[in-house]
Amino acid sequence: MTIPNAHGGTLVDRLLSSDKASAAEQRATSLKQVPIDERVQADLELIAIGGLSPLTGFMSAADYKSVVGDMRLASGLPWSIPVVLDVQEEMGRSLKGGEEIALIGESGAVMAIQTVEEVYEGDPKREAREVYRTEEDAHPGVAAMYGRGPLLVSGPVEVLRLPDHDFPELRLTPQQTRAAFAERGWKTVVGFQTRNPIHRAHEYIQKAALEIVDGLLVHPLVGATKSDDIPADVRIRCYEALLKNYYPQDRTLLSLLPAAMRYAGPREAIFHAIMRKNYGCSHFIVGRDHAGVGSYYGTYDAQKIFEEFEPGELGIVPLMFENSFFCRECEGMASNKTCPHDGDARVILSGTQVREMLSRGEEPPHEFTRPEVARVLIDSMKR
Ligand code: ADX
Ligand code: MG
Repeated sequence: MTIPNAHGGTLVDRLLSSDKASAAEQRATSLKQVPIDERVQADLELIAIGGLSPLTGFMSAADYKSVVGDMRLASGLPWSIPVVLDVQEEMGRSLKGGEEIALIGESGAVMAIQTVEEVYEGDPKREAREVYRTEEDAHPGVAAMYGRGPLLVSGPVEVLRLPDHDFPELRLTPQQTRAAFAERGWKTVVGFQTRNPIHRAHEYIQKAALEIVDGLLVHPLVGATKSDDIPADVRIRCYEALLKNYYPQDRTLLSLLPAAMRYAGPREAIFHAIMRKNYGCSHFIVGRDHAGVGSYYGTYDAQKIFEEFEPGELGIVPLMFENSFFCRECEGMASNKTCPHDGDARVILSGTQVREMLSRGEEPPHEFTRPEVARVLIDSMKR
């Protein structure tokens, strides 16, 4: 095994060089100004740096329909989540094919110029059913999707600048993670997605994976998450404290993924895997209820969905893990596959229990969270 090529074969780069970007900035002043929100901006950033290869812009009606219904781009390449630019009715109706528009970020800056290919209507109800497996707007991903403008605009983008972010040194592009893997001589790398602080179960499945590959990319998603998820800056301090104390430095790389969270469970697991392939991972971890929220998905639905593709077709190997926990009888981390003991021996805490302990200033048991991580979390709750 080796580091895979980007999805579709070629790593996309839509970020303009600085002289081209200043020319584009000039040109943008005479174009229609289309505001984009945090989520679209995150997709735009990912398109720019190749994280969504082979996409070079926002999806066409044919791609949208095919992705929603068949989990493939119109070309047949696997793809599980629509990546679209939404606009308001009046703006959409005013656009002509071939016209250039300026995409304006939340800061007010011109982020990109897009060449309009087509303007079309999405099908939010169908997208909800097929992609999210529910039409309920209590689902945070469905709610965000329903909040889109009524028309979608496809076409390639030329990106002038990436958004300003904290922790720039931790935001490696796919080119940079690939270079980092090569420099370290890693031929196989497992990617780990998370939107949470890393607890012992995460650590266990990462290290189990690391037993069989050369390197581990700890790749937390730091784009938009739901409001009760722990903010990215707090999580980043947790990751740093954990990696410093418990991970082999020469076999672990921490980098941030700018993507927004969809909470689309199984569909998002495929999407997460494809992005990590673009970052150069050969393997990807899928554990319990990956990218799930509430009780919308079965515990292992996000693993089962990989069976809908031919082996090798995705170009990244999913490594599936059972629900893991510390077992006091086994005196170690374990899962149903490896532990014969019953419930009482197992240290399993709900998110709510953990939040309550932390807010009382109490460290959760060390069998559940490393103390260095607990301290960062308690500290952040005090502020
Ligand atoms: S999410 O993006 O998938 O929502 P989360 O932080 O909850 O992020 O989980 C990160 C990864 O660890 C996912 O692949 C998830 O399936 C897996 N995971 C989380 N908790 C456990 C657990 N107790 N046992 C096994 N896998 C787990
Ligand atoms: Mg989870």
